[in-house]
Amino acid sequence: MKQVYLDTFGCQMNVADTDRMELILFHSGYRRTQEKEDADLILVNTCSIREKAEQKTFSLFGGLKPLKMANPDLILGLTGCLGQQDGEKLLQRMPYLDFVMGPDQVDGIAEAVDRVRDTGKSFVWTGFDKEKAYTIPELALPKSPGPSAFVNIIKGCDKFCTFCVVPFTRGREKSREPEELYGEIRHLVDHGAKEIILLGQNVNSYGKRGLKNPIPFHELLYGVAKIPGVERLRFTTSHPNDFTRETIRAYRDIDILVNHLHLPVQSGNNEMLQAMRRDHTIEEYRDLLFELKSEVPDISLSTDIIVGFPGESDAAFDDTLKIMQEVGYSSSFMFAYSPRPGTPANELPDSVPLETKKHRLQETIALQSRLTAEQGKAFIRKNVEVLIEGRSSKPGYAFKGRNPQYWGANIQGGEETIKAGDTVTMQVENVSGHSLNGPLAREADSKDIPPRKTVARQ
Ligand code: SAH
Ligand code: SF4
Ligand code: F3S
Repeated sequence: MKQVYLDTFGCQMNVADTDRMELILFHSGYRRTQEKEDADLILVNTCSIREKAEQKTFSLFGGLKPLKMANPDLILGLTGCLGQQDGEKLLQRMPYLDFVMGPDQVDGIAEAVDRVRDTGKSFVWTGFDKEKAYTIPELALPKSPGPSAFVNIIKGCDKFCTFCVVPFTRGREKSREPEELYGEIRHLVDHGAKEIILLGQNVNSYGKRGLKNPIPFHELLYGVAKIPGVERLRFTTSHPNDFTRETIRAYRDIDILVNHLHLPVQSGNNEMLQAMRRDHTIEEYRDLLFELKSEVPDISLSTDIIVGFPGESDAAFDDTLKIMQEVGYSSSFMFAYSPRPGTPANELPDSVPLETKKHRLQETIALQSRLTAEQGKAFIRKNVEVLIEGRSSKPGYAFKGRNPQYWGANIQGGEETIKAGDTVTMQVENVSGHSLNGPLAREADSKDIPPRKTVARQ
């Protein structure tokens, strides 16, 4: 039995790609190991979204080099977005690498490994096949996907925000056929998945390109909601420009569509939004959320924020703090702007000094902590519904999971009765960060949770 060690940087798409490579390699006789030293094959699935992600990758490879030197039979591959971005340059920088692949070659991983074995030569395999449909053929699952499973519905991005490498590293948008998606979801549910998270850099663009019989994103939501056994439905990431009124209606209509939305805003200032090429104003963003909140009053909202984009003045930054406060996000991913090779913003002077970026980042983090604490208070002494993901690592708590609004949950009790994949009711006693903590609720106390419809209304 051969062993593969897999390491992943970056977003959920990369996590999903790593899982796919693990599955394909399983069918070619590889088992995953957590020990680099035991591996016959080491794959690092890389990210190049910010400079830091690249640096982490290079320092990891620095540690892998001695393993390769000691064992020339070890195969060392670099996959993912940095591979697509830098290709040959990576082989020059790290000549001990056996191959470099891009995100579009994930399904060819077994072929790449065979090629190294057969030829003993290193190679770069990147690029995009424009004509090829986006399909992920079904493979038997050797183990349960777990209670919560990601499903890629669209790949690539056509938005070309000026700061972002993704359109270059993942190529043009292409959607997967709905029938294939429904098939994959049925397969996942048969193997124990309860929650389905539809995945893509811009899920709201689903259906625009690459389908024989195009359907829009909201129709896909209704389709997935009808599949028996899907207990919760989420999607990420959304782009404000493609988020339709019909999708807002889907929130109202589909009971299993959770009341959470991750809607990146990046900045609260119109000039910055324009320079980022987000193609919407902050007023339009606000109106969209207003409409959504009027349909789904208890929706929780999260976002992505960039501070220190070229030209960001103190006043422009204040607009970002303002929108955060106005919306009251439950959580945010906050980043200091990092110039990226090949992107339009890289042509602009990186005008905000590092110290200012750091300071602004600290301010957004501090504000978000306050907002999270405020939102969290509203849950105290309430009953919430939690999908159990597994054992909790928090001392004194038995299980962890999430509520529909995507708050983490740590639960006391139920050791004898609960297992991963169950949905239980907990009573929130206290809140730490973005986690709700408390005991299992007694049946009689479960009245805060409205009864659930089982079928989607259309
Ligand atoms: N498709 C998603 C997210 C893409 S990448 C979207 O459109 O929102 C995830 C996040 O990384 C982005 O939302 C952005 O906040 C951040 N990001 C991307 N490029 C960046 C850069 N050059 N510097 C800093 N943050 C960046
Ligand atoms: Fe990047 Fe913008 Fe596409 Fe998101 S929508 S992946 S930020 S280009
Ligand atoms: Fe990184 Fe590529 Fe995702 S650059 S964030 S792994 S799409």
